[in-house]
Amino acid sequence: MQKTVRVELDERSYDVIIGPDLLATAGARIAPLLARKKVAILTDETVAGLHLETLQSGLSAAGIESQVLALPAGEATKSWPHFTRSVEWLLDQKIERNDVVIAFGGGVIGDLGGFAAAVLRRGVRFVQIPTSLLAQVDSSVGGKTGINAPQGKNLIGAFHQPSLVLADTSVLGTLTPRDFLAGYGEVVKYGMLGDLAFFEWLETMGPVLAAGDLAARVEAVTWSVQMKADIVARDEKEQGDRALLNLGHTFGHALEAATGYGDRLLHGEGVAIGCALAFEVSARMGLCAQEDPSRVRAHLRDMGMKTDLADIEGELPDADGLLELMAQDKKVVAGTLHFILARSIGDAFVTSDVPRDVVRDVLVDALQDRQNKG
Ligand code: GLY
Repeated sequence: MQKTVRVELDERSYDVIIGPDLLATAGARIAPLLARKKVAILTDETVAGLHLETLQSGLSAAGIESQVLALPAGEATKSWPHFTRSVEWLLDQKIERNDVVIAFGGGVIGDLGGFAAAVLRRGVRFVQIPTSLLAQVDSSVGGKTGINAPQGKNLIGAFHQPSLVLADTSVLGTLTPRDFLAGYGEVVKYGMLGDLAFFEWLETMGPVLAAGDLAARVEAVTWSVQMKADIVARDEKEQGDRALLNLGHTFGHALEAATGYGDRLLHGEGVAIGCALAFEVSARMGLCAQEDPSRVRAHLRDMGMKTDLADIEGELPDADGLLELMAQDKKVVAGTLHFILARSIGDAFVTSDVPRDVVRDVLVDALQDRQNKG
């Protein structure tokens, strides 16, 4: 059931290995990278409680000694204080230029651990062992690392590619259904942005993999990672095509900001709602078929996911307030907002040519619909 996807980046190329029970054999897979049999693991307290013992015995089986720093779980950890603590801890562990750091956790640990590796002694190698669905299909692959600033998410960081990614699909079994579905928002995004056949496969298999089918999970993660690897190989530093991966994110980030980046709306939930809104804008502009937004929403609903603004609890800003939050997005270039829109499901493109009024109308209608349902 195990699959390997190669991320082709010349001398920085690496494998993403996907399959069940990879933690137990992590030592044998990581050993060829090591100059000496010692690694430092950055993780969070939740992941440590659930899976650290399995990983450490997998490392010991190959004679690899490991030191561990377990940080608090949650987005607040992606900050200067925890970053400083991590880098200083790595120095205390005497991690040298030729050693390897392991980032073992979800997107927060992967981003922070990767950034710590990027700056430690001007850059040491690191291995991503992602434990959330979101991290397995998106954040662990492609080398974006960093932390949040008071001014916004992911504003401080570096491109630093991992040397290996081990996506153990067995650990997805300990995610809450809500976290799993939030990660699924990023999975379905790949179908919507670049592969109708994958979207159609997910329409059939999504409920099966959400229910726990391991083979279907391996297939979905592999399909997603392959799509991301292809895009990153074409455009590592996001000068062009890589922006396609941000489908749904301009709306999603505004909704996350409006809801306080917390439990009210998880990142993947914001992305899913954002994808539905991006298809709505595309349909209103006559770019895609009128049926496409309904088909996107129907699949998200079938999966039991948040689909519309009406699914977000509590207060939301009005359309102009949301537009203002969208204008603070990182994808603003020379003051112009860049959107990812679609010609059809499976065919997205980047554009700055989006009339503000169309976006505003879509938001006004979605907020009205929310009010009617409330
Ligand atoms: N998560 C989007 C990217 O890696 O480019």
